[in-house]
Amino acid sequence: MRRRLPPGLRALAALAADARQHAHAPFSKFKVGAALLTRSGEIVTGCNIENASYGLTLCAERVAVFKAVSEGLREFEAIAVVADSPRLTAPCGPCRQILWEFCGDIAVRMQDLRGRSRTLSMAELLPLPFDRRNL
Ligand code: THU
Repeated sequence: MRRRLPPGLRALAALAADARQHAHAPFSKFKVGAALLTRSGEIVTGCNIENASYGLTLCAERVAVFKAVSEGLREFEAIAVVADSPRLTAPCGPCRQILWEFCGDIAVRMQDLRGRSRTLSMAELLPLPFDRRNL
């Protein structure tokens, strides 16, 4: 059975590609953009922001989630992640945890600059999650 995808994921990825232009990645030179869609249709973008103390680097996905949460947004539907790499860039482990906790089982569209894309659910990206139900 074909999975029904939320509408507008292509447009969401275009906004993630725009946000990628703001990436601050002087160390890795690896620019990432993200665009997070709320259930009411708002979109919050993010880009990766690196730091000379590498561990302080924030991924694009977390910037988008934290921006949204800081603006009082709590109900999400999808996120698009755009990067330029030989294989599609999926959210890193810590971002998967943050996305799961704040967004739940949303759709995650991964796309490169050539337009190749793949969409998975958060449950597919993070099976057997640890969350508040464990506490
Ligand atoms: N990065 C992201 O922003 N999102 C991802 O999904 C993967 C990695 C960033 C972190 C760092 O600035 C650079 O990409 C290289 O790891």
